[in-house]
Amino acid sequence: MMMSEMGGQETLYERVEHAVRQIRARYPEEVRVGLVLGSGLGAFADDLEESVAIRYAELPGFARSTVEGHAGRLVLGRVGSVHVAAMQGRFHFYEGYSFDEVVFPIRTFGLLGVKSLVLTNAAGGINVGFDQGALMIINDHLNLMGVSPLRGAHDERFGQRFPDMSEVYARDYQEIVVEEARQMNLELRRGIYAALSGPSYETPAEVRMLRTLGADAVGMSTVPEAIVARQMGVKVLGISCITNMAAGVIGEPINHEEVMETGARVHQTFKELLRRVIPRLV
Ligand code: HPA
Repeated sequence: MMMSEMGGQETLYERVEHAVRQIRARYPEEVRVGLVLGSGLGAFADDLEESVAIRYAELPGFARSTVEGHAGRLVLGRVGSVHVAAMQGRFHFYEGYSFDEVVFPIRTFGLLGVKSLVLTNAAGGINVGFDQGALMIINDHLNLMGVSPLRGAHDERFGQRFPDMSEVYARDYQEIVVEEARQMNLELRRGIYAALSGPSYETPAEVRMLRTLGADAVGMSTVPEAIVARQMGVKVLGISCITNMAAGVIGEPINHEEVMETGARVHQTFKELLRRVIPRLV
């Protein structure tokens, strides 16, 4: 009898293995790149070649995405000759999920054998040199969510108890993005992403605090996923779409509709950048 049939006895590792088996049954190719598509940026997955879409509801261990603008499915397919798995919609801590639930898909990517993880998000611009609609390569992060996704029981099959975080966002991946953006004549920013748990947007005082701490952009995701990927030895690329300037920077209130609209406005450029970069992530 399988553990799952004995009712609730599976370890986290076994639950992840279970999800991996389900995915392999539907998509037997060797998946090399995992992608998480943030708010308003999900359209990239629609362009994958020979794709297979699996709703999160069909995948054991996956929670349900509850936020508007997140489709809630895993799309597997090709970008050129590279097989990728793309999440259209992610799980956020502010939705009430535990960190184990938030990062379950990332661990699934890890056991599925991905070598690279591309994390994308919508973020507020803190650096006053940024404009709405800019794309920012994440070169480091500040985890201000109050807790690490690795807190709790440790299973060494996922990696070390105290993983190194000195280069979370692979430098060579950042350079690939810079090169491709140059070819596209696209101006890119580069900076530090601060993650807060949300879901309220920040106050102007919090935004000033974040700027003092060295943050260039602020959001409510990505950091837990990046930490878990690094524990598993997966290389990470992070790209933020600056959907709005953070509270108090230009004195305009922030709303989710605006965040989604900006994502939609830049999504062609964003898709083109990903289409060029992904085959080079080796
Ligand atoms: N703050 C936090 N998260 C965000 C923002 C913001 O201004 N914009 C998009 N996601």
